[in-house]
Amino acid sequence: MPSVFIKTYGCQMNERDSEAVAAQLVAKGYTLASSEGLADIILLNTCSVRDLAEQKALRKMENLVAEARRERPNQVLGFMGCMAQSRGQQLIDLLPDVDLVIGTQKFHRTADYLDDILAGRRDKAVDVAAEANSQATIREHLVNGNAKTGVTAFVSIMQGCNQYCTFCIVPYTRGEERSRTIPDIVAECRELVSRGVKEITLLGQIVTSYGRRGHVAADVSPRHFFPDQLAPTDVGGFGSRRTTSPFVQLIEAVHEIEGLERIRFTSPHPKGYGDDLVEAYSRLPKLVESAHLPVQSGSDRLLKLMHRGYTRERYLAIIEKLRRVKAKIGVSTDIIVGFPGETEEDFDQTLSLVREVQFDQAFIFKYSARQDTPAADMPDQVQQPFKEERNQRLLALVNEIGSQRHRSLIGSHVQILVEGPSKKRPDRFMGRTRCNKIVVFDGSERHLGQIMDVRITRAGSFTLYGDPAILNDGGCQ
Ligand code: 5AD
Repeated sequence: MPSVFIKTYGCQMNERDSEAVAAQLVAKGYTLASSEGLADIILLNTCSVRDLAEQKALRKMENLVAEARRERPNQVLGFMGCMAQSRGQQLIDLLPDVDLVIGTQKFHRTADYLDDILAGRRDKAVDVAAEANSQATIREHLVNGNAKTGVTAFVSIMQGCNQYCTFCIVPYTRGEERSRTIPDIVAECRELVSRGVKEITLLGQIVTSYGRRGHVAADVSPRHFFPDQLAPTDVGGFGSRRTTSPFVQLIEAVHEIEGLERIRFTSPHPKGYGDDLVEAYSRLPKLVESAHLPVQSGSDRLLKLMHRGYTRERYLAIIEKLRRVKAKIGVSTDIIVGFPGETEEDFDQTLSLVREVQFDQAFIFKYSARQDTPAADMPDQVQQPFKEERNQRLLALVNEIGSQRHRSLIGSHVQILVEGPSKKRPDRFMGRTRCNKIVVFDGSERHLGQIMDVRITRAGSFTLYGDPAILNDGGCQ
């Protein structure tokens, strides 16, 4: 059977989509190639969120085309994902050796198109159409042994985004928000747990919007979200018996799964971060003390121009509430520097917010104008040298705070879930704390999948080092 190699760019959602496509292909008899050179098919799962990500994938495909021409004339080459969605046929016009372009609602059709191309029934295929209920098609996982440790897994709970932040291309590449049903998601989680998964991360562009839209798909009515054993919510407008949001109801349902140890989610939106979600951290022990809450800017003026739907004050209030419930919660964020019109004063506001919150980690992005997004046409675009300089200044601050927080853990006891050998030091093992920090320790295969207490002995810039703890002093970060 033909072998396939998938290279993924961009976010965790893309990683998850690639895994689902790989699993679907394996189920149809395809094998997974260990390198590009050995593959009959190479698929690039692309990202459009910044221009750099698009350019990387385009350059990669140019190289693959050149190599295929020289050495592997029958190799099938394809684009999938966000850039495939936004550029469609253009990609084949640009690179005529590309055989396949699969949009974000068509991942599950990949095998059919590949079968057709390999059998000569089609020369090329481009499919970027919308498809009702495509949110329910990303469900297959690779089984243990296929490059997965099987301890942690990602589960896609929804697709699309309706927020239309003015900088962001995602609503155009991923389409309207559509959620899967709770029973469908729980069934997938149960199956994963039965295969040994201990930690599940619920994934969506904006998970706090989960289930809030009635028009999930033409053939799925809202009542299917809430089977009889789950009370309807008054937040999504589907009736009124409880005040928890559909997302918190989903977490509760997943929390019931026996054998599951930990639940994470990414990404919530500050706009939809209700008290019910804050409170869930104190009520649901499997929900770990970690929150990735993208802020984007510390300036109210820019937050408005970005169409974020919250103020600096509201953002800070959420962090304060979270820390009141879980003092040691790990908090990370995304920040954009150089958004159109960003002045030194606006940037100072971002610096001061970062100082105030003391993030454990912050991902900084230089603003990149995306085609057809409102911000691309805004006046006062910030010149590259200013973006670079602000990026450096912010990075220095973020790193300083991050390493201080890291060092403060030395000597403390933390709980880790052991995921497997350390990537950088394969002779050692790594696990993650509940707050999402990586800890490397002297372990062995028998520790895999175990929840352990370790004492932090040393802090590197991104990694903590620990010794398995003999005594548990009850502290857990
Ligand atoms: N330019 C720079 N960064 C962006 N992001 C989204 N769109 C853009 C853009 N046009 C960043 C945001 C988001 C993260 C995933 O990518 O910070 O949270």
